[in-house]
Amino acid sequence: MSSKKRRPVIAGNWKMNMTPSEAKAFVSELYEKVKGKRGCDIVVCVPAIDIPAVTKVLSGTSIKVGAQNVHFKASGAYTGEISANMLVDAGVKYVVIGHSERRQYFGETDETVNLRTKAALDAGLCAIVCIGETLDEREKGITSEVVSRQLKLALIDIDAEQMKNVIIAYEPVWAIGTGKTATSEQANEVCAIIRKVIGEKYGKAVAKAAIIQYGGSMNAANAAELLAMPDIDGGLIGGASLKADAFSVIVDAAQ
Ligand code: 13P
Repeated sequence: MSSKKRRPVIAGNWKMNMTPSEAKAFVSELYEKVKGKRGCDIVVCVPAIDIPAVTKVLSGTSIKVGAQNVHFKASGAYTGEISANMLVDAGVKYVVIGHSERRQYFGETDETVNLRTKAALDAGLCAIVCIGETLDEREKGITSEVVSRQLKLALIDIDAEQMKNVIIAYEPVWAIGTGKTATSEQANEVCAIIRKVIGEKYGKAVAKAAIIQYGGSMNAANAAELLAMPDIDGGLIGGASLKADAFSVIVDAAQ
């Protein structure tokens, strides 16, 4: 079940950082550092306004561009929102869905995470679906229950074929931006639970192929240990993805 035959996916989540001009310069620098490294998929999930600049620089390279959110309707009176088709047309391949910051600050619910995931998949995007427990939930001993529930609700009406374009990012909320990384054992334990839940719903083959990332204070110093764990297939990286050197070391750790 936990064979590491899966190709790791290293994704940067820039969050609300980098203007279009900064983004352009940054991805040029990043590309120079990672261009020969073919052992994993590399993605940068950038603010929507940076997408044109970043796709232009990265066009024809092995670095793929992701967005950080998508609306679930195809079009209409939803001021400020961006649809999956708009992202696809702009050259985006991946989209982060249900990040804990969106759940915490922007009213994202398990239901809207599911709707956004379906919209992304229908448009041909790869969905990076984020789940994870808070510190309070971990201390209460309900991590497994919380993460399993979030996962099941996110995957309602998504079939086995569509699962090829779903990545699950396990991001314990208490480890995000805090410098507190889950130990590799803690992270792997929850990623294994996620794989088990996927197996119960879709069968062994889908579970074995599923890409499950860890996210939460992953950096140049701890990436190798986390990525060596049997059920961790990559990382969703915040702070360290804003530094080309650090991100490049994480990409090395995934080779
Ligand atoms: P940090 O790597 O800054 O902890 O952020 C993790 C994260 O939220 C990625 O989506």
